Amino acid sequence: VAIDGNNHEVKERHIQLVKKRGKVKALDEELYKQDSMDLKVEFETHFGIAHTRWATHGVPSAVNSHPQRSDKGNEFVVIHNGIITNYKDLRKFLESKGYEFESETDTETIAKLIKYVFDNRETEDITFSTLVERVIQQLEGAFALVFKSIHYPGEAVATRRGSPLLIGVRSKYKLSTEQIPILYRTCTLENVKNICKTRMKRLDSSACLHAVGDKAVEFFFASDASAIIEHTNRVIFLEDDDIAAVADGKLSIHRVKRSASDDPSRAIQTLQMELQQIMKGNFSAFMQKEIFEQPESVFNTMRGRVNFETNTVLLGGLKDHLKEIRRCRRLIVIGCGTSYHAAVATRQVLEELTELPVMVELASDFLDRNTPVFRDDVCFFISQSGETADTLLALRYCKDRGALTVGVTNTVGSSISRETDCGVHINAGPEIGVASTKAYTSQFISLVMFGLMMSEDRISLQNRRQEIIRGLRSLPELIKEVLSLEEKIHDLALELYTQRSLLVMGRGYNYATCLEGALKIKEITYMHSEGILAGELKHGPLALIDKQMPVIMVIMKDPCFAKCQNALQQVTARQGRPIILCSKDDTESSKFAYKTIELPHTVDCLQGILSVIPLQLLSFHLAVLRGYDVDFPRNLAKSVTVE
Ligand code: G6P
Repeated sequence: VAIDGNNHEVKERHIQLVKKRGKVKALDEELYKQDSMDLKVEFETHFGIAHTRWATHGVPSAVNSHPQRSDKGNEFVVIHNGIITNYKDLRKFLESKGYEFESETDTETIAKLIKYVFDNRETEDITFSTLVERVIQQLEGAFALVFKSIHYPGEAVATRRGSPLLIGVRSKYKLSTEQIPILYRTCTLENVKNICKTRMKRLDSSACLHAVGDKAVEFFFASDASAIIEHTNRVIFLEDDDIAAVADGKLSIHRVKRSASDDPSRAIQTLQMELQQIMKGNFSAFMQKEIFEQPESVFNTMRGRVNFETNTVLLGGLKDHLKEIRRCRRLIVIGCGTSYHAAVATRQVLEELTELPVMVELASDFLDRNTPVFRDDVCFFISQSGETADTLLALRYCKDRGALTVGVTNTVGSSISRETDCGVHINAGPEIGVASTKAYTSQFISLVMFGLMMSEDRISLQNRRQEIIRGLRSLPELIKEVLSLEEKIHDLALELYTQRSLLVMGRGYNYATCLEGALKIKEITYMHSEGILAGELKHGPLALIDKQMPVIMVIMKDPCFAKCQNALQQVTARQGRPIILCSKDDTESSKFAYKTIELPHTVDCLQGILSVIPLQLLSFHLAVLRGYDVDFPRNLAKSVTVE
């Protein structure tokens, strides 16, 4: 955190940095421990910047934490979300100019660079945002940045490229405008002096946002709306290369070039998010709360979209593109982590209902392969946050090749939802736990709904469609039934939590369940876990099976049942002791099981929604028993905005 020390009464200019390794709570304690006069004065200014760091360059430590600074006097400080890919060149250049670096971060080069630009300015009255504008012209990579400086007290400047950034606006009074016009300009050394003057003038004009009649207005810069929702639900989403400056209670936004969207203004939007949606309530962790929210979150995903009377599905964000999608060459479904698993989980039903070839792709690998994409491809981008860098880059790659792009996200206003041609909001509500749970089941349902919409006029598919729609209707109740197994799953966790490894095996519709279950386990329990395709058992994984190795098998009454029985025999023949997730009425599998968890039955292509929940719960209880912080697993971040 950096706190602005310029108080009108004190007339001192300094910035104080407070840093702490570990949780935000530790920083909070540190802040209130400092009872120096200085800090009290500084709190009166209500003007600070703060950051929690997920390390890309340099180990987690105080010196590598942000804000990074230009020098020991904290002339310029900056916080940064993203990654600067040309930082080594910049650092070399700045070192050659005598700047001494104290951290291992890429971000520190930004702090030094802005001081360099300031020290070499050709005019005294250069504005803070002009400095930032010049700095970002030198940066490559992805960033959301907020700067403060002792040379510009009471001001902050923020900008982004590739990483998300929004501005919250709070005022009890009427605002001067609901649309902030962008100030465009071309920045050359010759005209910079004039620009500075004209812009100073324009700042007082209507080209900025303030409350009418000099009444108070507060601004909040944040990467994610959930960080500011307790203060305001009115936000402005910045576009790449926007530079937003707050000075004297006024906000102005400018750009050097016109934006890709060509929108000459930025609107204030009202978010539907409620504070209580991001509170833990009676649960011990957000992840647990989010697992238990699934009866409602899956219902919200379907709300107003599935008509159970007429057996129709309408996704408003896709309806205008349906004809084009029906004519396409193939569907490519792209995501990372859990979102990728939602694509794997629905591939078969999408192939069946759309009668199109469906490719599912991990965004990073898709890009590594320079995968051929054509104008008549339709590419889906699945992302809870809507900000995952790999997925976003894959989206831009497909867009450049002329494909139709469809976003499936949980975050209104996110980069993916804005940059795609059309899309579906999964409406699962904010997900805070790093390990994704309710977003997975809602992504799953969104993709199934898309398949249903595509097959509306296929006569041969009507019975199947009706069966699936009936299945969707009963899902919330069946999820509740699965959640009632928590105690049993807790007992299972008690037996397993000291193990080093856990295999999860299945096939067909439930292969994705195994991948997702294993991901949950490794993410938050730090146990080794692998999702194994049962069809591949004899091609390698069977060598792992013995009396000791814990194996969870997902065996459902679906077309793969007989083949799963085969795998079960192979496991028990090697003295494996399988824990089986099976249907309630399955007497055959339970005969060979060391333990069973019996699940209610639903239509085959939706069964994965029910079978993943015991694994979500199991990973949660394993992590708690092993003493780990479930919501904030080590080394991981909720939204990975770096490549
Ligand atoms: C990170 C998170 C995962 C998530 C993945 C994709 O790795 O820790 O939980 O599945 O990113 O995130 P997205 O927001 O694109 O769904």
